[in-house]
Amino acid sequence: MLTDFSDDNLAKNYLKFSNSDEGQKQHDLLWHYIEPRLAGQSNLKILDAGCGTGWLANNLRPYAQSVKAFDSSSRLLEYGKEHSPQVNFLKTDLADKLPFADQEFDLVVASLVLHDLPKLPETFQEFRRILKPQGKLLIIELNSYYAYPVGSWTRTIWQKLTRLKPKLTISPYGDWKRRIDRKFAWGEGFNSYFYTLPEIINAAHESGWNLEFMEDLIAKSNSEKLDLHFRAYRFPIFILLEFRKQN
Ligand SMILES: C[S@@+](CC[C@H](N)C(=O)[O-])C[C@H]1O[C@@H](n2cnc3c(N)ncnc32)[C@H](O)[C@@H]1O
Repeated sequence: MLTDFSDDNLAKNYLKFSNSDEGQKQHDLLWHYIEPRLAGQSNLKILDAGCGTGWLANNLRPYAQSVKAFDSSSRLLEYGKEHSPQVNFLKTDLADKLPFADQEFDLVVASLVLHDLPKLPETFQEFRRILKPQGKLLIIELNSYYAYPVGSWTRTIWQKLTRLKPKLTISPYGDWKRRIDRKFAWGEGFNSYFYTLPEIINAAHESGWNLEFMEDLIAKSNSEKLDLHFRAYRFPIFILLEFRKQN
């Protein structure tokens, strides 16, 4: 069964991760690459789909006339409302028809949420409906070539004893296609879909989106610690995809 984010324990764990040092580094890394995509804009109508704690929706405010953000987890939304009062939060499931008007938004962002969804084409079609002509869709996803479960950091006992840092081990890509048991540090028993990069791009294209820009989110500085900077400096764990609505 796919993970249910309305499960309160899972939401609590995610909140803990989000507020941890590692979670903050993840937000900073993502924002470092998202912000330049908005340069020079100030009057956008923005939607953050699967907003989690709402940190991204809040960061987007200077570029917006209005920011709406939705999630399926009541706990995360409560946190968002408390910490980002200027964002308009609502509880909605991306698997349903979204409660927004046709062509309501200039920009939709969906950060690290596609891997929770069973039907990519339907999601891309719904995003298309609510975006204005020439509207933009910004997707952040795990890079299927390097991120867990294809890539995992492993150390032999000898390497542990000698305090050597782990190395990235690449497991057979073909074993993971269409599996839904990808696990994350903050979610014991958590399931998500493993979508490859071509699957995401093709689903978007078939649903009326043109890919205009794509980037690997590499950490700008190396780290002595075994943290996100150490990992994301070596391998592109996350990717950014920017699509424009086809006429
Ligand atoms: C990994 S978190 C990412 C949160 C945030 N976008 C970020 O970048 O930090 C995935 C989020 O998607 C939400 N989510 C998962 N499935 C969803 C669905 N079907 N509808 C709405 N939100 C969903 C979860 O509740 C969770 O907050």
